[in-house]
Amino acid sequence: MRENGVKLLVAGGAGFIGSNFIRYMLGAHEDWRIVNVDKLTYAGNLANLKDMEGDDRYGFVRADICDSARIGEIVAAERPDAIVNFAAETHVDRSIDDPSLFLRTNVLGTQVLLEEARRQGIGRYVQISTDEVYGSLGPQGKFTEESPLRPNSPYAASKTAGDLLARSWFKTYGVPAIVTRCSNNYGPFQFPEKLIPFFIAILRENKPVPVYGDGMNVRDWIHVDDHSRAIEAVLLGGRPGEIYNIGGGNERTNMEITKLLLSFLGKPESLMKFVADRPGHDRRYAIDDSKVRRELGVAPKVPFEEGLRETVRWYLENREWMHSVQSGEYLKFYEQWYSRQGRV
Ligand code: NAD
Ligand code: DAU
Repeated sequence: MRENGVKLLVAGGAGFIGSNFIRYMLGAHEDWRIVNVDKLTYAGNLANLKDMEGDDRYGFVRADICDSARIGEIVAAERPDAIVNFAAETHVDRSIDDPSLFLRTNVLGTQVLLEEARRQGIGRYVQISTDEVYGSLGPQGKFTEESPLRPNSPYAASKTAGDLLARSWFKTYGVPAIVTRCSNNYGPFQFPEKLIPFFIAILRENKPVPVYGDGMNVRDWIHVDDHSRAIEAVLLGGRPGEIYNIGGGNERTNMEITKLLLSFLGKPESLMKFVADRPGHDRRYAIDDSKVRRELGVAPKVPFEEGLRETVRWYLENREWMHSVQSGEYLKFYEQWYSRQGRV
């Protein structure tokens, strides 16, 4: 793809990773423009991009990616060179509680965007996916792009369906779609339902954190800045029809993460509480990212403990942000989820 004067349509740019990507791309490419199309669900927050508001290279349109007429109008009006789709329902526990919205947004919404890319001849489409499509690993091995798709949660199944739609729109209609599959992200502006910001929020109040099962599940953590850099490389140099794994090369058990958070916050280990396990809980994720390193020359840079320490500091210094996203709806889900699972 050309590098100058590009216009991007980013779907789901008001969430954690999409907002980081928009900020990063406008910082890295002076002559690019970005329109952010987001429904602003509980997880979408314009405060995540407050610093972009005065920048005339950035625009926001509130829309649901499942609304094909509206998406068709937006794409026709904006004429983007490329679409990058972050928009999704993203929390595994919520998908266990109620899968229907996940199927709607992650499957139907992806189809709507792909179809507009086809109809309006968009030059590039990037589907932001997840390592969860591969299911769970034993103690050895890593996911490669050739690993079988074995999603275990409704969230993972809905993301897998989105990936396969992207593949089929490429094979059948020639839509230049590329899929990225990344591991667990951490960093600022992550909604406090995901492990790291959730635990920071609870520990700040000196309350016990709910560690699922034995705490020995493993995730491969990557800083969100490293994820954004990898997506940029895929957007600019990735091959249509291909899949690119993105990972941190940084496997940690949930227990290790919890202990690091306790130590950074100066809290006692007695605040670690083991609770009932997540149904269908994947045991281990690990990413083989040799393809993206080899073909596109991109690799993670942020050292984990430094990145995590900075992240903890960010949440402590941005109490206002934390407070603003912890709405009534958020609290309702949490009370219901953790009490029904016998976790509190
Ligand atoms: P998030 O939940 O923070 O943000 C999702 C965004 O999508 C929100 O702004 C929300 O308003 C928007 N959205 C949801 N439904 C929509 C709809 N129907 N129409 C328009 N906008 C809608 O999610 P995130 O953590 O930033 O994840 C972004 C993408 O990256 C997702 O596709 C996710 O599957 C993928 N991913 C996330 C991680 C991670 O660790 N968070 C890792 C790998 C891949
Ligand atoms: O791997 C990529 C995926 O990472 C993304 O596709 C998802 O959108 C993102 O939410 C994340 O999924 P996880 O399920 O791995 O993330 P979560 O933060 O929910 O949980 C991380 C680990 O921590 C997991 O093993 C479950 C555990 N956990 C989580 C919560 C919320 C707990 O032990 N207690 C908790 O309260």
